[in-house]
Amino acid sequence: MILKTYSNPAAIQVAVVGYGGAFNMGRQHLNEMKAAGMTPIAVVELDPKRLEVARTDFPGIETYATVDELLARSAVGLVTVITPHNTHAALGLQIAAAGRHVVLEKPMALTTAECDVLIDAARQAGVVVSTYHNRHWDGWILRANEVVRSGALGEIVRIDLRMGQHGRPGDWWRSSRSISGGVLYDWGVHLLEYSLQLITAPITEVSGYAWNGYWAGQPGFPWAQDANEDEAQATVRFASGQRLNLTITQLDAAPERGFMKIVGTRATHLIDSNSAETTTPQGSGQTMVERALHPKGQGEKFYQNIVAHLTANEPLVITGEWARRPIHILDLAARSAREGRALPAVYG
Ligand SMILES: NC(=O)c1ccc[n+]([C@@H]2O[C@H](COP(=O)([O-])OP(=O)(O)OC[C@H]3O[C@@H](n4cnc5c(N)ncnc54)[C@H](O)[C@@H]3O)[C@@H](O)[C@H]2O)c1
Repeated sequence: MILKTYSNPAAIQVAVVGYGGAFNMGRQHLNEMKAAGMTPIAVVELDPKRLEVARTDFPGIETYATVDELLARSAVGLVTVITPHNTHAALGLQIAAAGRHVVLEKPMALTTAECDVLIDAARQAGVVVSTYHNRHWDGWILRANEVVRSGALGEIVRIDLRMGQHGRPGDWWRSSRSISGGVLYDWGVHLLEYSLQLITAPITEVSGYAWNGYWAGQPGFPWAQDANEDEAQATVRFASGQRLNLTITQLDAAPERGFMKIVGTRATHLIDSNSAETTTPQGSGQTMVERALHPKGQGEKFYQNIVAHLTANEPLVITGEWARRPIHILDLAARSAREGRALPAVYG
């Protein structure tokens, strides 16, 4: 089916599903959509109190309790889903099948099979399915891309991604395995999306590791029967010989410095939340360390690109296929951890 397009940005009427209070993401999305020139018209939310907040934030906005009502009663053209992870696939499918463009908050879905169904449904309906990878344009990854392109690191050998420390998980849905997908599905998706910008070779194999039960066994923990892993890891092998290690932990009392380390043949680039440093060997055991603050992020480019795609035929940056790549890694890692063996990638 041919893609549904628009003559100008304001003609794209937009809505959000989910107006939660944890990070006020619904407000952020509607403001960014508006800044990109689109017209916010509706909010869907199960919690009436949050709908009240939406009406205060955006006076005159239509509000609905369900996606069914939104699709039946409004002329919305693009819907962004900002709900807990296990609901993304079904809501996205419903919206795409109704012929509306759909943006899913990350993660796109929990399994590769769900991503495939979404991509197929969107293609058949002539609509976009994208994922809100606003962090594609975080300052530190924009800079890392520049450093890699400059040749300063030589060839990338490995990327290490790690987050977390020793600490009890929160009492929120993010700590439930069946709702969140697992401990790797929150920040892990962003970290993988950064890395896949730098290692572009096909994925050949994923090994997953998990430690379970420590926090689930603590008194009062609300997800005792359905808790995330205490720590999980994915090791990804690429056809180029490169590899990537992702670890998210609630158990490590002595975590390493930095959340992303890019080891190259000529230098190593380490990124932490404040700055990035490139360490280059100078011979005789000496090194030169260049430290730089992160440039400003450009997350607003996400919706600007969606608008440019729908009004001016510019290429979509975050395609469904792109958003599926980190999910394929996470899906394989979870199954590999359960089965206790490495699993081959189906999609490179
Ligand atoms: N890109 C980012 O930087 C970023 C930052 C924060 C959160 N997120 C993502 O945003 C999503 C939501 O996270 P959050 O922290 O805003 O959660 P939240 O719990 O604050 O909000 C979720 C809201 O969705 C509502 N909801 C659930 N099912 C619904 C349905 N079927 N129809 C309508 N409303 C429904 C809930 O009532 C709740 O208010 C997650 O995918 C999360 O990973 C992304």
